[in-house]
Amino acid sequence: MKPTVAPFPAARLRRMRQSPALRALARQNTLTVDDLIWPVFVMDGKDDETPVASMPGVVRRTVDRVAKVAKEAQLLGIPAICIFPYTGMAARTEDCAMAWDPDNLTNQAIRAIKDVAPDIAVMTDIALDPYNINGHDGFVENGEIVNDRTVAALVKMALAQAKAGADILGPSDMMDGRIGAIRTALEAEGHQNVTILSYTAKYASSFYGPFRDAVGASSALTGDKNTYQMDPGNSDEALRLVARDLAEGADMVMVKPGMPYLDICRRVKDTFGVPTYAYQVSGEYAMLQAAAQNGWLDGDKVMMESLLSFKRAGCDGILTYFAPAAAKLLNG
Ligand code: PBG
Repeated sequence: MKPTVAPFPAARLRRMRQSPALRALARQNTLTVDDLIWPVFVMDGKDDETPVASMPGVVRRTVDRVAKVAKEAQLLGIPAICIFPYTGMAARTEDCAMAWDPDNLTNQAIRAIKDVAPDIAVMTDIALDPYNINGHDGFVENGEIVNDRTVAALVKMALAQAKAGADILGPSDMMDGRIGAIRTALEAEGHQNVTILSYTAKYASSFYGPFRDAVGASSALTGDKNTYQMDPGNSDEALRLVARDLAEGADMVMVKPGMPYLDICRRVKDTFGVPTYAYQVSGEYAMLQAAAQNGWLDGDKVMMESLLSFKRAGCDGILTYFAPAAAKLLNG
């Protein structure tokens, strides 16, 4: 579409900006509570929480307290919660068997949320890194992060989460073929209504640093994730990945990180027109919070402006640690 502009002074683009009423009428994009997915960190224990130092305002909570978060989400109108488990070094193994244990932290949290707030959509993370002794998303054999054996394990993990009652599975591992394998297994086991939000265009980013602290992966991780997560220089590859994941049975796709990759969000939405999400990741949250704490930025305002940027870029929703704060502002 070519923008049309009459010559000055017939066209004065400032006319439509002159009052709050005209600005409201002309506004193309808005953020609503419906757009938010709230990522929540779960840890072992009872009636407890601990702050995540590099993510001011974010805590890890025990399962019973996650149930309280679910009620809060319901009250605020936030449609979905995404669960991430914290595991210390002692709970990590080479075979990652805890990843598909029906009683692991994620599966306990899914059941706890469904007990108190069945209408909240529960999203999960599918990747081996919370349980892996070396912090990688896949099995490591002689220094290589192996694909196909990892996919078989991810399928077991996905089925355990579906059985626990998850509504949205979020494979974040970037192995090839995992969406198709998970979809086939879900269909075979009677979970045809479980949705998949694929972390499709997930970049090998340094903006994940605070998250790795939050889930206990920082000290575990050996090397980097460059052989499976995307190269930040690539854009066309994101479209190939989206086409591939949709063909394999993904219901929704995600771009991650968010703000530095808004161009990818826009290309994905324009090319495919499918439900598209962005993850405003831990490092993005941390930098905005740090500047706000220093008084360098107005925290509430940059939070809302940053979230609106995802809507403008074509996203249908945003995973963001700001979810409860943004919902409170939106609800007045
Ligand atoms: C791991 C996973 C990561 C995030 C979500 N799932 C980190 C990583 O790939 O190392 C990052 C989220 C964030 O930074 O907020 N599979």
